Amino acid sequence: MYPERPAGIAYGGDYNPEQWPREVLEEDVALMREAGVNLVSLGLFSWALLEPAQGRFEFGWLDEIIDRLHAGGVAVDLATPTAAPPAWFVARHPDVLPVTREGVRIGFGGRQSACSSAPAFREATARLVRALGEHYRGHPAVVMWHVHNEYGAPLGECYCEHSVAAWRAWLRRTYRELSALNDAWGTTFWGQTYTDWSEIDAPRANHTAVNPAQRLDYARFSDGQHREHYALQRDILRELTPGIPVTTNFAGTVNCKSTDLWQWARELDVIANDHYLQAERPDNHIDLAMSADLARSVAGGEPWMLMEHSAGAVNWQPRNLAKRPGEMRRNSLAHVARGSDSVLFFQFRASRFGAEKFHSGMVPHAGTDSEQWREVVRLGADLRRLAGVRGGRVRAEVAVVWDWESYWALELDWRPSVDLTFRERVDAFYEALWREHVTVDFVHPSSDISGYRVVVAPSSYLLTEASAKNLHRYVEAGGHLLVSYFSGIVDEHDTIHPGAHPGALRELLGLSIEEFHPLREHETVTLTGGEVARVWSERVRPAGAVTVRGFAGGPDAGHPAVTRHDLGAGTAWYLATALVTGLRELLAQVLDHAGVSRPHGLPDSLELVRRGGHVFLINHGDRPVTVEGVSGVSVFDGVRHDGPVTVPAGAVTVIAEAAAEPVAEPAAGPVAEPVAETPQP
Ligand code: GAL
Repeated sequence: MYPERPAGIAYGGDYNPEQWPREVLEEDVALMREAGVNLVSLGLFSWALLEPAQGRFEFGWLDEIIDRLHAGGVAVDLATPTAAPPAWFVARHPDVLPVTREGVRIGFGGRQSACSSAPAFREATARLVRALGEHYRGHPAVVMWHVHNEYGAPLGECYCEHSVAAWRAWLRRTYRELSALNDAWGTTFWGQTYTDWSEIDAPRANHTAVNPAQRLDYARFSDGQHREHYALQRDILRELTPGIPVTTNFAGTVNCKSTDLWQWARELDVIANDHYLQAERPDNHIDLAMSADLARSVAGGEPWMLMEHSAGAVNWQPRNLAKRPGEMRRNSLAHVARGSDSVLFFQFRASRFGAEKFHSGMVPHAGTDSEQWREVVRLGADLRRLAGVRGGRVRAEVAVVWDWESYWALELDWRPSVDLTFRERVDAFYEALWREHVTVDFVHPSSDISGYRVVVAPSSYLLTEASAKNLHRYVEAGGHLLVSYFSGIVDEHDTIHPGAHPGALRELLGLSIEEFHPLREHETVTLTGGEVARVWSERVRPAGAVTVRGFAGGPDAGHPAVTRHDLGAGTAWYLATALVTGLRELLAQVLDHAGVSRPHGLPDSLELVRRGGHVFLINHGDRPVTVEGVSGVSVFDGVRHDGPVTVPAGAVTVIAEAAAEPVAEPAAGPVAEPVAETPQP
């Protein structure tokens, strides 16, 4: 359920007006109109002002702001401010303060300072959200609800007494019998057998590795506690304001490890994602594309919302680089190209005080006579011209497997090598596909993948039997699967599948592994095609698979490094190492074999994505790029192209492929019409 208003692409950001005197607020609404801002997320951290003492609600100041925004044609995504519990509440209930794995109880003075399991926090949340919902129900400015802020970041797991009590209850519900838990966790190892539920603690910091199955369950439990806290609020809001969508903003689909977004997606009316560039990374736009593709995938292919990104620098990285001219525009339009129907920022006006005063805003400290503000105004105009993209779908022929449970399990203690990480492998495959101009979806390994020509599974360490069967069926029915090393090793309890590795995939891949041979730090090995690899080598024994490349050096010289297994109507490929060179070529071979079409001859600085009858051409390089074979009308300047389109360095061109007529120049000013009357909530 996507919010009906604003029409077109939503534009704006977090708005924290309580930091400013009234004159600034008036100026802000005028500036929003100038830039075409049509949606703001309001009141995200305002609990202390909305409920200054227990049960005493003060909505007057917020009423005034909402009415003023509404009169200016700006719709409101109204937040529940539970990510910032007030000082009086924490002083009264110090037991809500979260405890880290190391046993440190955090203090007041930051934010996210309450544990999602703490009963006092849940009660106060319910009281506050009900009051908010009752007060603003029916207010025409409020088009959606924004619950909390970035669950799981930075507080993924809490180890307080309330968490432990809830954990024991969760374990009882999950396992029913203590013997089932003992079996699942393999507690006979290291003499950990439990004889009573009350003996079970959270997997606190320890001088040695803690039972990995216990840790994996604690990750599942902790994520579920945040979802319960979210659902508590959502249910109240749905009861009071049916028809108004409820969401929460994810802390960057790719960057927040603790939230299993396949589970979260079921609870939200619309998926909302935040993304911040890793400023110093040269190709950080590839990470952006991955985040956007994952957000769209989590949304089940439906349009989603970019709830936060930055207009310029952030303030929390080691070196906070300002965006270069045109970079904000490229970033914003890349999110739209990949399915977002909004471009929203943290935050509208840069703060003068507090922890984030060096973070950029749409209105910078330098004011409106600045390049940044001019870019903000220009982007608003661009987005008005892109209104026709709203609701458009992105189609992908290739999928990459992403499973948060496997991610958690893979990165627990004591694996065969510290260089085995999930993100590094996914990033490597995603980047190679991005450079091949292939748009990908992400999928859970148990989901319906039958529609994809190619599925890539980078280090899918934890794979249930059911998921493995799903992959098997996919290949037999004609799918093409590429699996990388350290996949299909354990089940849902981090127990190794019986027999030789990879237990869950032996038959599908037509091979087994006799021994792992992790490489030393900086050690490389060569393959028979001259490719260079690092991190991993292993002794592969084919049992049906044919060798495509062998190891030419290292511990497994003379044995297979890349294999192919024809099974039913499809093919299962296996890659037993981390290619430094040749990964793109291997992927190209798999894509060609599967008949995946993609543009050829384009430099990989050019991002090309199709969405709903539009082709987005984003030039990240410093030279113009000519793209052949695109015809239609350029959305930003109305020029018709039949054949080659030249995209200047750093620029973005969007072609409406289906449009017959040039797109009319829209009127200046915001999309939403100002509203004359100010309704009373
Ligand atoms: C986000 C957060 C915002 C703001 C932003 C700064 O993670 O939701 O409130 O802190 O980071 O980049």
